[in-house]
Amino acid sequence: MTERENKVQASATPAGEPRRLQLVKASQLPIVRLSQVEKRYGKGEGSVQALRSIDLQVERGEFVALVGQSGSGKSTLLNLIGGIDQPSAGAVHFLGQDLADLGDRDLAQLRAREIGFIFQFFNLLPVLSVFDNVYYPLMLNGYRKEQARRQVLQALERVGLQQHALRRPVELSGGQQQRVAIARALVKKPALVIADEPTGNLDSETGRSVLELMQEINRENGTTFIISTHSDAVRDVAGRVVRIADGSIQHD
Ligand SMILES: Nc1ncnc2c1ncn2[C@@H]1O[C@H](COP(=O)(O)OP(=O)(O)OP(=O)(O)O)[C@@H](O)[C@H]1O
Ligand SMILES: [Mg+2]
Repeated sequence: MTERENKVQASATPAGEPRRLQLVKASQLPIVRLSQVEKRYGKGEGSVQALRSIDLQVERGEFVALVGQSGSGKSTLLNLIGGIDQPSAGAVHFLGQDLADLGDRDLAQLRAREIGFIFQFFNLLPVLSVFDNVYYPLMLNGYRKEQARRQVLQALERVGLQQHALRRPVELSGGQQQRVAIARALVKKPALVIADEPTGNLDSETGRSVLELMQEINRENGTTFIISTHSDAVRDVAGRVVRIADGSIQHD
């Protein structure tokens, strides 16, 4: 099957789950493939070449860490992989689908269903309880209440926070807040989790435990992770370390 034949289609799914945008027979395809990707911010003299000639393929089930100095292009790369931004040249394929061929609605749907995002500053909604923060993406995806409730409790249990379900984020430590964000990213059972400096706002010990939790989830569920981090613990948890310098891949 060629990538072009691997069209995005909507199809029915088992009990409780909404109709899902499905990538047909995509299981053997790489999760993401970047080919000769360039990213330039701005035009003319003041423009910045943030990424150059990036070729990168990530297979299902990998745990990939992006490392590199500040300004090297890690966040830019993650944003292109997650369909948050578009390359200036080259192509980004997600499970065989060229993201440039998707309209805004399909792209938003693919992001909402298949990609979980984790950020440095957790980005939890402060007025919502822990439970509702994790419930939110399922609500957006149109899950039925009972199914959603089950998945939220399962995700909170997985990150060890079921007993804090009714608290607000402000009543939790940084590490606990990041665990809520991990549960929120996982609750929809995405194919890929993207985490941009998930340890950046945590002390090193807490950062390590957050990385270890993500590694456990990667091993147990086969969820693919692509993370950027400055944490020294990354070498102990990542199956693959990709180093970026000045917008290019230096070492893979
Ligand atoms: N929206 C933007 N507009 C213009 N330039 C940008 C923009 N975002 C990033 N850049 C530039 O692109 C380059 C790569 O930035 P990027 O944020 O990807 O680096 P990073 O590796 O994530 O850095 P850090 O470790 O500090 O998060 C930098 O030179 C940065 O200044
Ligand atoms: Mg960054």
